[in-house]
Amino acid sequence: MILKDKIFLITGIADAGSLAMYAAKEIVKNGGSVVCTGLGVSEFHTNLSDRAASFLNKTFIDFKASIQQELGDARVDILDVTLEDNVEYFAKKLTKDGVKLDGFLHAIAMDKTIRNKQVKPLLEVTRDEFCDTLNVSAYSLIRLTHYLLKHEVLQKGSSVCSISYIAAEKVTFHPYRNMSIAKAALERISIELADELGKSHNIRVNTIRFSPYMGSKAGTATLTNEDIETSDKLSPLGNANPQDLAFEVVHLFRPESRITGETRHVDGGYHIMG
Ligand SMILES: NC(=O)c1ccc[n+]([C@@H]2O[C@H](COP(=O)([O-])OP(=O)(O)OC[C@H]3O[C@@H](n4cnc5c(N)ncnc54)[C@H](O)[C@@H]3O)[C@@H](O)[C@H]2O)c1
Repeated sequence: MILKDKIFLITGIADAGSLAMYAAKEIVKNGGSVVCTGLGVSEFHTNLSDRAASFLNKTFIDFKASIQQELGDARVDILDVTLEDNVEYFAKKLTKDGVKLDGFLHAIAMDKTIRNKQVKPLLEVTRDEFCDTLNVSAYSLIRLTHYLLKHEVLQKGSSVCSISYIAAEKVTFHPYRNMSIAKAALERISIELADELGKSHNIRVNTIRFSPYMGSKAGTATLTNEDIETSDKLSPLGNANPQDLAFEVVHLFRPESRITGETRHVDGGYHIMG
């Protein structure tokens, strides 16, 4: 029970196939508890079209149902990281409810330049598309950490973890272009935060590069079966699975760990291949 009495925030759960869900379940198995956030309509959304509102409502219903099914009565909250007021409101709400966190998992990414498994060439990416992807998938790590610390929710000695991909560093057989840049930013943010927060709050910040995985909404939208097979063949141990990732998250969340500023590879060894 290495996480006994510890509480972690888990972002990025859409459904039972989400990578973050596997991490949440493993945390609970190790004696910890979780607070989970999902996308939904918040009071901070303005001018939502009917289509957007119904998408967000359905997303939240699916999220809540999967939490109930996989994690029972774990706490759920709406969090859209692109809405500054929503992030601060969420942090304040945790303070008000007396929740103190021992860490959190950032498992959030969104890139509208990948549609129907087609990746837009970088040369065609607009400023808005570039900034939106960076905002949701990378800057959100800074902002969420900022408000959790500002409202004294994230405790000294906590551990923060995010999920990245080898494309942050190397062009792979299925280049992600715009998203690769966001992942590179996410990894650099982790390193800079590891330095700042290690010194100021004894907080550790790490990121994990994971194998391609089609069992989640993001994975299904971006990958093909052929991508998964190619990566499986190229990786010495074959593709890592979500449970491998969950074990690593729990490892990095261990309170006695001194690992920080690391980019871990949970990818069956794919990263050593030329
Ligand atoms: N699936 C893969 O092949 C793979 C591989 C390596 C890394 N990753 C990373 O793992 C993480 C989780 O992805 P997943 O595969 O479990 O997919 P997923 O679709 O289950 O998770 C992505 C999550 O991001 C959330 N999200 C998007 N925009 C948001 C916003 N504005 N505010 C709050 N949440 C928002 C979605 O609601 C969803 O829960 C992502 O960072 C992804 O890039 C995935």
